[in-house]
Amino acid sequence: MPDTFIPRAVLVTGGAGFIGSNFINHFMAGNPGCRVVNLDCLTYAGNLENLKGVENNPAYRFVRGDICDAALVAKLLAEEKIDTVVHFAAESHVDRSITGPEIFVRTNVLGTQVLLEESRRHREAGAVPAFRYLQVSTDEVYGSLGSTGYFTEETPLAPNSPYSASKAGGDLLVRAYHETYGFPTLNTRCSNNYGPYHFPEKLIPLMIHNIIARKPLPVYGDGLNVRDWLHVKDHSAAIETVLKQGRPGATYNIGGNNEWKNIDIVNLVCDLLDMKLERAPGENRRLITFVKDRPGHDRRYAIDASKIKGELGWEPSYTFERGIAETIDWYLANQEWVREVTSGAYRDYYEKQYGER
Ligand code: NAD
Ligand code: DAU
Repeated sequence: MPDTFIPRAVLVTGGAGFIGSNFINHFMAGNPGCRVVNLDCLTYAGNLENLKGVENNPAYRFVRGDICDAALVAKLLAEEKIDTVVHFAAESHVDRSITGPEIFVRTNVLGTQVLLEESRRHREAGAVPAFRYLQVSTDEVYGSLGSTGYFTEETPLAPNSPYSASKAGGDLLVRAYHETYGFPTLNTRCSNNYGPYHFPEKLIPLMIHNIIARKPLPVYGDGLNVRDWLHVKDHSAAIETVLKQGRPGATYNIGGNNEWKNIDIVNLVCDLLDMKLERAPGENRRLITFVKDRPGHDRRYAIDASKIKGELGWEPSYTFERGIAETIDWYLANQEWVREVTSGAYRDYYEKQYGER
C-alpha cells in the first residue's frame, strides 16, 4: 500500500448533488482539520439544503460556479491552496441524456478537461507539496453484461448511452493526464447508489415518492434489468479510502455485490411501504405500470470490487436490508425535503442563504 495521503484543502465539484453532498457530510465529520470548497453551479440536481449541517462550519465554503469556467477554477485552486480535487459534478441521469445529449458532453467531458488542465498547472506551479485528483465515475462506462460475469477494472469501455459515453470520455482524459503529464489521478467506478438526498427522478426515490402519493410506478420494459445497489454512505467511505490510500494512476471499481432485478426492488419497496404506511398487503404493487423501455437500456450491471478490497481493505458496511429500510424511513421523515424538490422551492435556497445571484 502506498504512503497515506492526507488532504489539507479539497475542492469538491458537484457537492450539492446526491453523492457529492453525502460525501461532504461524511468527509467533514471525519476530517475536521481539512478545508472543503464546494464548487457547484446548482443545476436542477443541486440542492444546498442537503448541506445544512456543514454550511456554518468555518472549514466549509460554497462557491456557485461552473466547472467549465477555467478562470474561476484556477482562482479557487490558487486562493484556497487546494491539494485535492474530488470531481463529482456531472449531468447524471441517463433518460435526460437520451433527450438532450449536448449538455452531457459539455459538463462531463469538457468540464473534466478544464478541471484536469487547471489542476495540472496549479500542481506544476509548485503551489502545494503533494496533490491528488479523484475522478468519480460509473460502472456504466463498461456497457452491459449478459446473465453472468462481472465488470473488472480491465473490462474494455463500451458505453451505450450518451451519459455513459460522456463519462467514459472523462475517464479517458483522466488516463491521458496521468500517462502524458504524470498527473496524480485516481479513478473510481461505482455501481448504482441509493440513500438520503437522492433526486426523485432515479428509480428508488421515484418509486418511494410515487407510492406515498399513490401515483403509478413506471417500470421500463419487462422489469428484468439488473442493477448492483450500494448505499451512498459506503460509496463516500470508499472514495475517502481511495483518496488517502489509492495508487496514483489506478482505477478502482466500487460495488456492493448486491444485484437486484428492477421489478424485485420495486416490489420490495411497495411491500415495505404497505407496512410503514399501514396499507393493505399488496395495495402498493397495484400501482406498478409497465411502460415502454428506455432506448439502449443496459441489461445488467455487476461490479467485481475485489481490487479495492484486496489492495485498500474497503468493503461495504450496509446490508441492503438495513440500507433500504433506513432510506425509506429517511424519505418518510423528510417529506418537506421531497415537497421542496418536487415543487422547485429548493431552488430559492441559494438566494435565501447567500443573497442575490
Ligand atoms: P447529481 O445529478 O445528483 O448531482 C450532480 C451535481 O453536479 C449537481 O449538484 C449539479 O448542480 C452539479 N453540476 C452539474 N453540472 C455542473 C457544472 N457544469 N459545474 C458545476 N456543478 C455542476 O449526481 P450524483 O448522482 O450525485 O452523481 C455524482 C457523480 O457520481 C457523477 O459524476 C456520476 O456520474 C457519478 N456516479 C453516480 C452514481 C449514482 O448512482 N447516482 C453511481 C456511480 C457514479
Ligand atoms: O450504475 C451507475 C449509474 O446508476 C450512475 O452512473 C447514474 O448516474 C445513475 O443515474 C444510475 O443510472 P441508472 O440508469 O442505472 O439509474 P436509474 O435510477 O435511472 O434506473 C435504474 C434502473 O431502473 C434502470 O434499469 C432503469 C429502470 N427504471 C428507471 C426509472 C427512473 C425504471 O424501470 N423506471 C423508472 O422510472
